[in-house]
Amino acid sequence: MRRVEFWLEPLVIGGEEYTFTPHPALPATSGEVYALEGGEATVYQLQQVGSGRLFALKVPKPTYRSARALAVTHALASLAAIPGFAAANRRCLTGESDPALIARWPDLEYALLMPWLLGRSWADLLLDRLASAAYTRSHALTLARSLAQSLAQLETLGGAHTDLAGDNLLLSPEVADGSRVELIDLEGVYLPGLPRPPVASQGTLGYRPPWLGHMPRRRFGWGARSEDDLWGPLGDRYAGAMLLTELLVWCEGAVRLHTPAGAEALFQMQAAHDEHSILLKAIRLALAVWGVPIRDLFHRAWAARRLADCPPLSEWAAALNAISDIQA
Ligand SMILES: Nc1ncnc2c1ncn2[C@@H]1O[C@H](COP(=O)(O)OP(=O)(O)O)[C@@H](O)[C@H]1O
Ligand SMILES: [Mg+2]
Repeated sequence: MRRVEFWLEPLVIGGEEYTFTPHPALPATSGEVYALEGGEATVYQLQQVGSGRLFALKVPKPTYRSARALAVTHALASLAAIPGFAAANRRCLTGESDPALIARWPDLEYALLMPWLLGRSWADLLLDRLASAAYTRSHALTLARSLAQSLAQLETLGGAHTDLAGDNLLLSPEVADGSRVELIDLEGVYLPGLPRPPVASQGTLGYRPPWLGHMPRRRFGWGARSEDDLWGPLGDRYAGAMLLTELLVWCEGAVRLHTPAGAEALFQMQAAHDEHSILLKAIRLALAVWGVPIRDLFHRAWAARRLADCPPLSEWAAALNAISDIQA
């Protein structure tokens, strides 16, 4: 019989032993481990016994298990040195690389082992109004610069994350302390030469270009016009503009005040798309604080009808670097 309870005992990967972290909210005797359930995979927290360091093990659900994961892992190695892409530093477990492990636990085939990144997600901060009240202009500028630089570097390589969203952006715990952001959920990355995934990214509500229409209900058999393909070199231009805008305006009380509680993304709400709404006015005013170039970059993405109309991420990076720190 197929054995699936791989979390019950330590794993040996590349000669190192790893244990599963117990679930933080349940008694240790429950035997439940720390696991985050997603649509296509489950993410477990592991601890390397020798070093004590934490790792993430992303185990694909059976339907999503595919040899393509190995090709993506090889391609991601080219990003591992770029700030913001620590999660690209990963090992894809296969019968060839880890024969004993996969023989014992076939469900771990094509699972991904990567560093566990500390920090909460941007979506999480948006939901936490108490913590958001302490989010300042100085934090905003630091984080936006950090994200724009990471994305501009990816763009230079002809790549795109393809699913930029508040959930996939982690903020380092010491926001004030020369901090930066880390991108996760890198399996959908577009890089030149990678074969197209069977189900390419359709973006996330609030970051998906509005001209592409609603999220398709059926995940298969849907095709965007090729120049508007999110799985392509321009795939981050619209989502990146919206995410950077969120980072830059959330520090203003008026934006938070007019954002309904429970919103995980500013532009996921209809109100943000209504030219006469108080929320969109507050967002535009908050952007104006950062000067004309930033306001214009937002406007280009906002008025866009094709990805190519949206500014390249390198323009965001340059404009953000040109802002003086005193302005924040
Ligand atoms: N390297 C990592 N470090 C810390 N947490 C992670 C890491 N990778 C994933 N997670 C956590 O697991 C969740 C789901 O992972 P993600 O890669 O975004 O998968 P999904 O495809 O399900 O969105 C994330 O929202 C995050 O909380
Ligand atoms: Mg995700």
